[in-house]
Amino acid sequence: MKKYCMITFGCQMNVHDSEKMAGLLKSEGYSETEDPKDADIVIFNTCSIRQKAEQKFFSQLGRTKAIKKRKPGLKIAVAGCIAQQEGSSILQRTPYVDYVIGPQNICAIKDIVRSDSAVIATDDNPNVADIELPADRKDTVRAWINIMYGCNNFCSYCIVPYTRGREKSRPAISILDEIKELADKGFKEITLLGQNVNSYKSDMNFPALLGEINRIGGIERIRFVTSHPKDLSNELIYAIRDLEKVCEHVHLPLQSGSTRILALMNRKYAYADYVKTVGKLCKEIPGIAITSDIIAGFPYETDEDHKTTINAIKEIGFDGIFAFKFSPRPGTKASEMTDQLDEGIKTERLYEILEVQNKITEDKNRMLEGRVQEVLIEGISENDSKKFSGRTRTNKIVNIPSTKSLRAGDIVKVKVTRALRHSLEGKPV
Ligand code: 5AD
Ligand code: SF4
Repeated sequence: MKKYCMITFGCQMNVHDSEKMAGLLKSEGYSETEDPKDADIVIFNTCSIRQKAEQKFFSQLGRTKAIKKRKPGLKIAVAGCIAQQEGSSILQRTPYVDYVIGPQNICAIKDIVRSDSAVIATDDNPNVADIELPADRKDTVRAWINIMYGCNNFCSYCIVPYTRGREKSRPAISILDEIKELADKGFKEITLLGQNVNSYKSDMNFPALLGEINRIGGIERIRFVTSHPKDLSNELIYAIRDLEKVCEHVHLPLQSGSTRILALMNRKYAYADYVKTVGKLCKEIPGIAITSDIIAGFPYETDEDHKTTINAIKEIGFDGIFAFKFSPRPGTKASEMTDQLDEGIKTERLYEILEVQNKITEDKNRMLEGRVQEVLIEGISENDSKKFSGRTRTNKIVNIPSTKSLRAGDIVKVKVTRALRHSLEGKPV
C-alpha cells in the first residue's frame, strides 16, 4: 500500500484543503504516514500570507531533498498558495519537486500523482465551488466546511486574491447535504470557511444559509470565519442573535485603528464604521466575543497612526487578537509603496500591541471567574493529560480536571474557577 505524508502550513482553509487531498488519496488506496522517510509521496500544503511562513516551508522542503537522494522513487508535491504564486519557478529553484498544485486544482490530485513526469497545475478553476471532494477529517466532533472560495477584496497587503482567485460560493444544497452527513456521523460543531463568509451568495445569502443549517438535527454549534467589517449586515447580526446554534463569537479583522491607514490598506471602512458595527453586535448579543487581526507597521504608518491603533484596541476591548508585522508580498500594491518601515519599528509596534492586548485578554478572562459557561468537550487537554479540554460558545479554551468521565462531543455546564491568559480552568456543575 502506498503512503502519503501531508505537511500543512497556514490557515484553517489550508488545513481543510489538506483534509480533502487526504480524502482523495485515501480513495486511491493510499494510507497516511507522519514520517516523510516512510512515504511514497510528501505533500507540502503551503502558505504565502507572510514571508515567515514561506521561509518555514522552504527550509522544510530542503530537508526532503536528502530523503529523495536515498529514495529516488519518492515524489514531492508542493500544493497551496506558494504553489499557485510561484508555479513553474518552484521546479527551477528546487528541481527535486515533482508536482506543483495550486489551491484551485487540488481536485485533480489523483491524476497528478499518477504522472511520471512533472506536473504544474495552477490554472484558474471556474468550477472550484461546484466540485464535491471527500474530506478525510481528523476531528470527530468539530468539522470545517468550505462555503466559498477566493476573495474579491484586494486589500493592498494581501496575496490571497492572487493565489485563491475570485470569490465563488458553493451551492447551498451541497453545503447542507455535507453538514447533514456530518451530523449523522456524530459531529457536533461546524465552522463555515471562506475568506469573506458574509459575502456568501448562491441561491440564498449568508444569514439565510445560517438559518437552514440551524435546523439540522445533531449539530449543536455553528461558527464561521472570516467576516469582513464592510459586509457585516444587520441581517447577519440578527441571525447570530436569533439562531440558537450560532455561537456568540465573531472574528472581525480590524487591521488598523487609523482610518488613514485603513484607506491605504483598501479596507473600505473607516474606524468609526467598525466601532459602530461592534456596538451593534454588543447591544444585540450581550456577552458576544469579538476577536480581530491587526497589522503592525504598514507602509506610511506614523507613530500617531500606531497610537491610534493602540487606543482602538483599548477602546474596543477585543477578547483576543492575532497581530502580525507587515510583510511585503510580491505583486501586492502595499509591497510597492515607497515608505516601507524598518523591521525594528515594526517589531517594537507589534510588541506594544501584543502587550496591551494581553492585559485586556487577561482582564476579560478574569471577568468569567465564578460564571457558568456551556463547554463542548473536544478531548484530553494537550498540555495536561489529567484534564479534559473544550471551548465555550465564545471560543475560549476551558481545561477541566477529570473528576468525572467526559467524552469528546459532550456539552457540559462548567463553572470557571480560574482565568489564565490564554485559557480558563473550570469544573462541571
Ligand atoms: N503582512 C502581514 N499580515 C498580513 N495578513 C495578510 N496579509 C499580510 C501581510 N502581507 C494578515 C491580516 C489577515 C490575516 C489572515 O493575516 O491581518 O487578516
Ligand atoms: Fe486578504 Fe482582504 Fe481578502 Fe481577507 S478580505 S483574504 S485580507 S484580500
